[in-house]
Amino acid sequence: MPDLAYVNGTFLPLADARVSIEDRGFQFGDGVYEVVRTYGGSPFHLHAHLDRLLASADAIRLAVPETPIRLSELIAEGIRQAGFPETKVYLQVTRGVAPRDHAFPKTGTSTLVLTFRSLPPAPGLHSQGVEVLTMDDIRWARCDIKSLNLLGNVLARQRAVEAGVFEALFVRQGLITEGSVSNVMAIVGGQLWTAPTGPMILAGVTRQFVLDLARGEGIAVREEALPLERFRGADEVFLTGTTVEILPVVKVDGGLIGGGIPGPVTRRLADRFRAATRR
Ligand code: PDD
Repeated sequence: MPDLAYVNGTFLPLADARVSIEDRGFQFGDGVYEVVRTYGGSPFHLHAHLDRLLASADAIRLAVPETPIRLSELIAEGIRQAGFPETKVYLQVTRGVAPRDHAFPKTGTSTLVLTFRSLPPAPGLHSQGVEVLTMDDIRWARCDIKSLNLLGNVLARQRAVEAGVFEALFVRQGLITEGSVSNVMAIVGGQLWTAPTGPMILAGVTRQFVLDLARGEGIAVREEALPLERFRGADEVFLTGTTVEILPVVKVDGGLIGGGIPGPVTRRLADRFRAATRR
């Protein structure tokens, strides 16, 4: 089954999908996006993703050309047409096609693009855990907007790849914020620490789900960013996100976390996560 796309009203094979070079997403990164995955064929926490899409669009004064109900219908239709066991759905809305000028175009409509790709089973990283590095957060001060402007994330991810590690974590004013494609959590003194929502992180859908799971398990949650040195000394660290799920981290900047194996709280939360998503 080929990957599928939807562009401004039409489903077609992804390989045939086109937008204009004058689209403001291409020219300026003037748009927002979401990544949603299915479990058992159903999109996971779709409403939270659509709410965040609307909040991101609102923050940049961008009109989303379809209602959330219509978007849900299009997503269901795309998943059905694509016919994959599990699907990775990408949604992108841009400020449309217009002659290049920084200010908003006076007329025209937003571009809506969806893609539906087969989601392969997670590579076997979850049992042994991954290594990460930390680096300065050079991104802008509205990381809560899921904007197409991902240059800081792109450069960070490339640094991780070149260093042979899985993820790059950002440090802003001495505090750990999040990863280039994930949120990050640490267990310190039996409590779960993660940076608070606000302009410095993306409020991850998985992050919220995992915090709710943790509270349900009686784990104390501290939505406070950890200073780098305390973070490096954490008992356990893990990443959360649509693509990584709950992914244990066993090495930060070359130093071992929890003796180099995924810790008990991480494993307990990962078990609960698996039970909730693979029902
Ligand atoms: N990224 N932080 C950043 C910077 C992210 O890019 C992502 C997800 C997350 C986790 O959010 P969620 O749990 O809602 O997926 C946190 C997606 C997957 C991406 O850009 O591909």
